[in-house]
Amino acid sequence: MSNASVGTESLAAPTTAKAAKKLRVAFIGCGGISETHIAAMRRIPEFEIVAGCDIKPERLELMKTKHGITAGYERWDDMLREIKPDAVSVCTPNGVHAPATIAALNAGCHVITEKPMAMTPAECEAMIAAAKANGRKLVAGFQFRYHPTSQMLVRAREAGEFGQILFVKCQALRRRGIPNWGVFGQKDLQGGGPMIDIGVHVIEMAHYVMGAPRPVAASGNCWTYMGDKPSDVVSPWPNWDWKTYTVEDLAIGQIRFENGAIMQIESSFCAHIKENVFNFSMMGTKGGATWDPAMIHTDRAGTMINSTPNFLPKSDFGELFVHKLRNFAEGVLYDRPLEAPGEAGLAVQKILDGVYRAAAAGHEVAID
Ligand SMILES: NC(=O)c1ccc[n+]([C@@H]2O[C@H](COP(=O)([O-])OP(=O)(O)OC[C@H]3O[C@@H](n4cnc5c(N)ncnc54)[C@H](O)[C@@H]3O)[C@@H](O)[C@H]2O)c1
Repeated sequence: MSNASVGTESLAAPTTAKAAKKLRVAFIGCGGISETHIAAMRRIPEFEIVAGCDIKPERLELMKTKHGITAGYERWDDMLREIKPDAVSVCTPNGVHAPATIAALNAGCHVITEKPMAMTPAECEAMIAAAKANGRKLVAGFQFRYHPTSQMLVRAREAGEFGQILFVKCQALRRRGIPNWGVFGQKDLQGGGPMIDIGVHVIEMAHYVMGAPRPVAASGNCWTYMGDKPSDVVSPWPNWDWKTYTVEDLAIGQIRFENGAIMQIESSFCAHIKENVFNFSMMGTKGGATWDPAMIHTDRAGTMINSTPNFLPKSDFGELFVHKLRNFAEGVLYDRPLEAPGEAGLAVQKILDGVYRAAAAGHEVAID
């Protein structure tokens, strides 16, 4: 059952609105995506942003001058001890998610950590254990499950429109989009390349729409043929750091679930295809669907019908962050159900990890 409060209501709650309770939140990692969090939190009256931590002083300076967040720390231990926030939003590179989250949980904070939840399932398990030991909430920062199309497909599945879902194809493919900032090409800091960075978005929403079946086996392969070399081809993000590039350019995987369903994964920073693709499609015994365009394929009135929604609420990037952060705040403050608890992050991490392990092994691997 989906609990997301996605509907036709206005999401733009005025900052002056009164909240029944407040959540004092601090950031670990004040880079690019923390800006989207801040903008979204300012539209949710429950949030009060109290501090930021970043190893780069210039990011702390920006928090102060641009956002008026004056309490800045270079070490999260100092921030957690002095500020004692109720909650922490972890917005660091993937390799820092687990240590930062565990430190915040052990300091008594509730945590939302950006996607992917961590670099490995073992890290996710340690994070979940820390949340349980401290009696605190832990959320994986997935936002695409709140997308109105994802919510529509969940309702269609719950109404039995697909019958048994047999096959889902997940695609997150860029024609040429190797990040030329941050550490996205460094496997030791990120855990992988396009599959863990952009594929994870499509995988998490497809897995959620499927009803979160348990993954049991993975196969696949990964290839690096472009990111680790200089390029003089004209592209939107040229001059990436090819010397430190240790991740895949293309990951192709197949996941088998306990219920027999199959998920196919295609993810790349630089695929030789006509144009970028960010989508999933699925086939069931009674019906199928595509996410983009939002469309359901069923038989009705003795006819094969393709249905499209007449109306869906606005769903840009910022709106999706409002949904995910509101779900986090309401889960913490009012004990409402969490759409993406740590366990959901772990299941997605097992899928990613399964494909990476199968690629390294050269054969199918079991997922525990
Ligand atoms: N949900 C989404 O759609 C979405 C979009 C972009 C990024 N992300 C995720 O957000 C995370 C950060 O991505 P970004 O684009 O903001 O990267 P970024 O490089 O812009 O920001 C990361 C920040 O973390 C800081 N940092 C690194 N190590 C730290 C430490 N030990 N303590 C404190 N701060 C530290 C860096 O100095 C940097 O300012 C990644 O996990 C990424 O996958 C999610």
